[in-house]
Amino acid sequence: MGLAIGVDIGGTKVAAGIVDESGTILRRARADTPDRSVHPKVVEDTIVGVVGELMDGADREIVAVGIGAAGFVAADRATIVFAPHLSWRNEPLRERLGDRVGPPIFIDNDANAAMWAENKFGAARGEADAMMITLGTGIGGGVLMGGEVFRGRFGIAGEFGHMQVVPGGHRCECGNRGCWEQYASGNALVREARGLVSANSPLARDLYERVQGDPSRLTGPLVTEVAQAGDRTAVELLAEVGTWLGIGMANLAAAFDPGIFVVGGGVSAAGELLIEPARQAFRRQLTGRGFRPEARIVRAELGNEAGLIGAADLARQSVTG
Ligand code: BGC
Ligand code: NA
Ligand code: ZN
Repeated sequence: MGLAIGVDIGGTKVAAGIVDESGTILRRARADTPDRSVHPKVVEDTIVGVVGELMDGADREIVAVGIGAAGFVAADRATIVFAPHLSWRNEPLRERLGDRVGPPIFIDNDANAAMWAENKFGAARGEADAMMITLGTGIGGGVLMGGEVFRGRFGIAGEFGHMQVVPGGHRCECGNRGCWEQYASGNALVREARGLVSANSPLARDLYERVQGDPSRLTGPLVTEVAQAGDRTAVELLAEVGTWLGIGMANLAAAFDPGIFVVGGGVSAAGELLIEPARQAFRRQLTGRGFRPEARIVRAELGNEAGLIGAADLARQSVTG
C-alpha cells in the first residue's frame, strides 16, 4: 500500500520516481528542465510527461504525487512565488497541474523535500535539529527544527543560497550580488573551471585536454572526475567550493545551532574532496570554536535522489497521514 510519485525539478534536470513507504525508488523517469526563458506551461508539460510515464507502468495504485521544486514555495503549498533558475513567477502550479495529473498533488521546495528524506531515511536519522544543503545549479536549503521542516511565516524559509557572502560579488540569477550560491554550487564550480580553461592556464592542462580546449564543454561531473583521477587543479577547484561551503555553514551554525549538516545535490558526488575542505573552513570560522560542540558535516546518504524521495514521502503522508 501507499506508493507515491516524487518529482524533483532542479535547475537542469527533472528526476521522478515511484517510491514506496520505506523510501525505495521502484521505477524512475528523467527529463531535462526547460530553459528559464520558456513559458511555465512547458515545465508543466514536462511534469505531466514524467508522471504519466510512471503511472502507465505502475502495477499498484499511486496515492499522491509530490513535487520538489527549485523555487520559493508559498505557505499555501500550491503557488511558486519566485524561482531564480526557472520560469515561475507567482505560478499557481497545483491548480495548473490539477486536472492533468490524477492523484492529489503536494508541492514543496526541493531542498525541504531532501531534508525530509534525509531525516526519515538517510544521514540525519534520529536528529531533530538538522540542516540540508544541496549543491546543484544553486544552493538549496532545508531546516529541520524540533523534528519538523521549518518553513517560516510565508513558506520561504531556508533560502540560504541567497545570503550575501561577498559584498559586490558575482551577480546572481535572483538579481542580487555576492549570493552564497555564486561561490558554493555546481554553477560556481563550472564557472571557475571554465575561467581557468579560457585563460589557457598551464594549471588547467588536464581539464583543457578533456574538453579539447572548449570551455563550454566543461561540466561539474567532469571536474569531479578529473579531480578523482588526481589532477591538482580540479582538486583545488572542489576545495574552493568546499571552503565557501564551510564558511556558510559556520554562519548557519551561529544562527541555528543544528546537530548535523547534510550536504547533497550533484556536487556532493565529489565526496571528501568537497566535504573535508568544508569541515576545515567550518572549524576555522565557527563562532566560539573550541568552546562549543560542533555539528557533524556529512554527505547525503540518499545522494542526489533525496529530493525525489522526500517529495514522494511528503505527498504520501499528506494523504494517508
Ligand atoms: C533557489 C531555491 C532552490 C535552490 C536549489 C536556489 O537558487 O532559490 O529555491 O531550492 O536553488 O535548487
Ligand atoms: Na528550502
Ligand atoms: Zn541570489
